Amino acid sequence: MQFLKILEYPDPKLRTKARPLKPDEIAGNIPLIKDLVYTMYNADGIGLAATQTGIDKRIIVLDVSRKADKNKPFSLNEADILTANKDLIIAVNPEIIFKEGKTSYEEGCLSIPKFNADVERAWEIKVKALDISGREFVVPAKDLLSVAFQHEIDHLDGILFIDKVSPLKRSLYNASLKKKKSAKHEKEPDYTS
Ligand code: NI
Repeated sequence: MQFLKILEYPDPKLRTKARPLKPDEIAGNIPLIKDLVYTMYNADGIGLAATQTGIDKRIIVLDVSRKADKNKPFSLNEADILTANKDLIIAVNPEIIFKEGKTSYEEGCLSIPKFNADVERAWEIKVKALDISGREFVVPAKDLLSVAFQHEIDHLDGILFIDKVSPLKRSLYNASLKKKKSAKHEKEPDYTS
């Protein structure tokens, strides 16, 4: 397994609309899915979409349980990384088939370092997707899990949460990026935010 490079805003590749996988293509993508999970846990993220690593495939991985407990242990063993982590969700070709209610959550994104802002999304959803065996499943999600699913599925359509925040917050962040770009000694990005 390897830690995949996470693209950062405003990289144009983050705007790619990723392509769906055929069920019989999933088995061949297990190494990639393991890399995505490995990268998500190592980057301290609660979700990651393949698009964020420059891979044009509709695959997302999520584990929101680590939001409540940052010290929750997780397995990074190649043999069981996809099965030993009980709260890990892997969704191929995820689609929202039901939406209800509204919630607002302060979001962050591994592709937009050092930026957090409130985003309004549906409070409750149902997601239809394929699992790693290519079988269809439907998962209901509320609250944080619902928000995380919506955030990650947006990534597969080239949509970033910064598109959904107030224009003022967005322009302040864009201005800070320009300043950073012009600085001689650029600091390493902080993936933990
Ligand atoms: Ni994100």
